[in-house]
Amino acid sequence: MTTTASLPGQPFIAYQGEQLHMEGVRLVDLAREHGTPLFVYSKAAMLSALAAYQRGFAGRKAQICYAMKANSSLAVLQVFANAGCGFDIVSGGELLRVLAAGGDPAKVIFSGVGKTRAEMKQALQAGIGCFNVESEAELDVLSSVACELGLKAPVSLRVNPNVDAKTHPYISTGLKGNKFGIAHEHALRAYRHAASLPGLQVVGIDCHIGSQITEVTPYLDAMDRVLDLVAEIEAAGIAIHHIDFGGGLGIDYNGDTPPAADALWAQLLAKLDARGYGQRQLMIEPGRSLVGNAGVCLTEVIFTKPGEQKNFCIVDAAMNDLPRPAMYEAFHQIVPVVPRAGEAVTYDVVGPICESGDWLGRDRSLVVQSGDLLAVLSTGAYCMSMASTYNTRGRAAEVLVDGDKAHLIRQRESAFDTFALEQLVG
Ligand code: LLP
Repeated sequence: MTTTASLPGQPFIAYQGEQLHMEGVRLVDLAREHGTPLFVYSKAAMLSALAAYQRGFAGRKAQICYAMKANSSLAVLQVFANAGCGFDIVSGGELLRVLAAGGDPAKVIFSGVGKTRAEMKQALQAGIGCFNVESEAELDVLSSVACELGLKAPVSLRVNPNVDAKTHPYISTGLKGNKFGIAHEHALRAYRHAASLPGLQVVGIDCHIGSQITEVTPYLDAMDRVLDLVAEIEAAGIAIHHIDFGGGLGIDYNGDTPPAADALWAQLLAKLDARGYGQRQLMIEPGRSLVGNAGVCLTEVIFTKPGEQKNFCIVDAAMNDLPRPAMYEAFHQIVPVVPRAGEAVTYDVVGPICESGDWLGRDRSLVVQSGDLLAVLSTGAYCMSMASTYNTRGRAAEVLVDGDKAHLIRQRESAFDTFALEQLVG
């Protein structure tokens, strides 16, 4: 008899018998066919994460704009475009990806503190839905670019509510000391300025307070602050058609307990209703919570190296593939693809890159030998999209699993690919 054991927080990844599966596919087969390191994503996991938001917004006017910086692979964008999502983009390059994946430019919102004139022009010509503007200087430039094109740019101002998202400082964005948004106390002035410019059409307001948020309170506080502003701005005669609450909902990496998207929105909508804004057009920009727990990274053990103070398990994935531990000391679970019997040893799981920061997991209890496969979990978000070719390591391949089918969605980058655009002098 085959037993199935799901992994905590990973409903689409389970041991069936002695083998780790994603949906109906054996991960060992994918590693053999495509090599390692290999990212594998579950389409069902993405759609199930999206469904939690859709349930939360049932009966409301709401647009979900997937924050594609979390994972911008074309086939991943295609899954969300086909499910009716718009996209939150932060560069002209991301806009090109949306279009290449069949996304609707009218459902695109363009965030970011440093949009260039060229990017503004590109986005205006593509007919995007809204620019989330982050400074008064940006308002002036956007208006002038729009006027040159004979167009009006739809704008929303990103306000900084000065709320602590209680997350890692590098991914907390809603505090006064952050570079993001327009300070709450200057927002009305900025809206008046926006309304006076000939190339702009004010359509909304937005905020985004940070990422990997696991508590409801920061969202509720930010919502209060934003709604206070909506009242002030509308009292000044400037209509706010939509309210965008950004992204930021966390996922379970290691026993984290973020609220489910529908539970979070039940509380937020109750507040919106109580304050009389429940029937407004709403927008959100979730990234990590849609894809993070839909992905694993398969990696092969190259050597085990016992040491006096530490034992090392050296694998073929590294900080160029999985930058989150090195950048944020982030935790990702690491599990065997085919568990073996034996006595567990405590290892630091590290990559081959020449830096001590190149670690994937510290003090992990594993039974492994060289040649074994490990799965690094919760790697659907901010891994491949942040991967580099440091140490002339080509970036990993990617596979999308759909039921019992597996589709290669990105070929492995070769070392030659990594220097194909370079040339010698003379
Ligand atoms: N909207 C804006 C304006 C953002 O800056 C972000 C993320 C999102 C939405 C989506 O946030 P999410 O729902 O994914 O939390 N590399 C870091 C995370 C950086 C987040 C940047 N902004 C990490 O690996 O933890």
